[in-house]
Amino acid sequence: MSTHTATAQACPNIAFIKYWGNRDQRLRLPSNGSISFNLEGLFTRTRVTFDTRLIGDVLTLNNKKVTGQGLQRVQTMLDEVRGMAGTNLHAEIQSENNFPSSAGIASSASAFAALALAASTAAGLSLSEAGLSRLARHGSGSACRSIPGGFVEWQAGKGDEDSFAFSIAPPEYWGLVDCVAIVNSEQKTTGSTEGHTRADSSPLQAARVEDAPRRLELCRRAILDRDYTALADVVELDSNLMHAVMMTSRPALFYYQSATLTVMEAVRRWREVGLPICYTIDAGPNVHVICPQVNCAMIAEKLEALNGVRQVLTAPVGGPARLVSEG
Ligand code: PMV
Repeated sequence: MSTHTATAQACPNIAFIKYWGNRDQRLRLPSNGSISFNLEGLFTRTRVTFDTRLIGDVLTLNNKKVTGQGLQRVQTMLDEVRGMAGTNLHAEIQSENNFPSSAGIASSASAFAALALAASTAAGLSLSEAGLSRLARHGSGSACRSIPGGFVEWQAGKGDEDSFAFSIAPPEYWGLVDCVAIVNSEQKTTGSTEGHTRADSSPLQAARVEDAPRRLELCRRAILDRDYTALADVVELDSNLMHAVMMTSRPALFYYQSATLTVMEAVRRWREVGLPICYTIDAGPNVHVICPQVNCAMIAEKLEALNGVRQVLTAPVGGPARLVSEG
């Protein structure tokens, strides 16, 4: 046979307990474990075709040809898959996000999770969930959390073998929603791969990492007990800790913009008057506002009315990465 093809789709995820900093940059072995949930309705869909007629790997993202570093990062994962499958065939990779890249939602998690599943399947491999999660991790750390479904924990592990993610509760376990307040849709200037390499230059990183097992336990418990007050407390603490590390790294990284602070302030104010609501912020200015599904429409409306908020995307808890049939 001259071609082998597979198509897979995966959601991005939002972390409650953040991954920031690596013990091993190349293998993306994290300094601490993390917990997230997948964002339903948003996805990357990727089709990989290994073809004897190709003389090199060809990547298109949203119908645009990608070369240079973007292609290289994908080729590193393909080489790993080719090594495992014992093939040297080149591949055509067509990838699409159903959410605008201008939405400022990190697409590397969904992209590398979908690629890991599509490429390994197209190469004839049948990897376990843990094996897929490890493979996805090599492309982008947080991508390992987009392989299992629902609420997911990435155990830091002792080494490459046991650093992977698994589900701690299915999507329907707790009806939470991420209301993403988009305050700036431009590409970020310093990406997370570079950011991770700076984490240890902050004098605060060691304390953040040392306290991580305690926060992980609080977060795990809050999810399993569906305890919103406990969840909100640890989620905001964890996000604030990560940004404190970013701001005190050398060179310093500032992702907040003035509208970011406007949203954070509003969330705190609404919580004080009794709304179950909390914020978490990744390596960018947009604010992920977590609330129960019943309040989602009302919260989205309130967020849209704030100064500097351009758009609000909403996503409930999503399922695992999955293969999709062709055609
Ligand atoms: O997977 P990366 O290298 O894009 O890092 C993700 C880092 C954060 O989004 C800031 C935190 C996280 O745990 O998702």
